[in-house]
Amino acid sequence: MPVFLHYRKEYLSDSLLESQVNPDPFFQFHQWLDQIIESGTAYPNAAVLSTCNKNYRPSSRIVLLKELNEEGFIFFTNYQSKKGRQIEENPYASLLFPWHETERQVRIEGTLKKIDDLTADIYFKTRPEGAQIAAWASPQSEKIESREFLEIQEKNYRKKFNSEDITRPPFWGGYLLKPDLFEFWQGRENRLHDRIEYYPENNKWKIRRLAP
Ligand SMILES: Cc1cc2nc3c(=O)[nH]c(=O)nc-3n(C[C@H](O)[C@H](O)[C@H](O)COP(=O)(O)O)c2cc1C
Repeated sequence: MPVFLHYRKEYLSDSLLESQVNPDPFFQFHQWLDQIIESGTAYPNAAVLSTCNKNYRPSSRIVLLKELNEEGFIFFTNYQSKKGRQIEENPYASLLFPWHETERQVRIEGTLKKIDDLTADIYFKTRPEGAQIAAWASPQSEKIESREFLEIQEKNYRKKFNSEDITRPPFWGGYLLKPDLFEFWQGRENRLHDRIEYYPENNKWKIRRLAP
């Protein structure tokens, strides 16, 4: 007999009707982001980033949304990481915000591109010193021999920069996801959830309702 996980919850807290949504998906996202921040959840800006290599093999991991502007969604990472290599091969990606506290999920799909060096430098300077050193010390996604390797790398880079300003590594920076699809999901009673999708048509965002 299979053993099922009996975590079942009714979604009763809100609804998402065509009459309620903002015609601009960025505005709608901001409104929901404000509400998840108010909920006090630990990482309101954490999103699952899914990328895919040239052979259509997908891979997902969490990244933190660090900026949202009129063009798109920005996160920071190591350009030589697994995700960085996949993005080189295939720029299409999705960001998924799992907002359990508000019984919501937002799916954003689009194309990734590197942000400019100056913006990456400005953001890098705002990171705590330990995180700046870590960006140099960690060859993200590479096989390493031991934990000790990382600690030695950290020590060496601290020595290298000593009291100098820590510059941004050339292999570390930001990506911007330019969306061409948004989906806002609101949990409802008896699994009859609300799903509103935004898609572009003639340079305007249109909306349509999807079955749950
Ligand atoms: C809450 C949370 C936030 C994270 N934020 C980032 C991030 O902003 N950038 C990043 O490169 N990795 C972040 N990570 C680590 C990634 O999930 C992942 O392990 C790492 O980027 C290597 O992924 P890759 O091998 O697929 O390239 C975060 C992990 C967690 C759990």
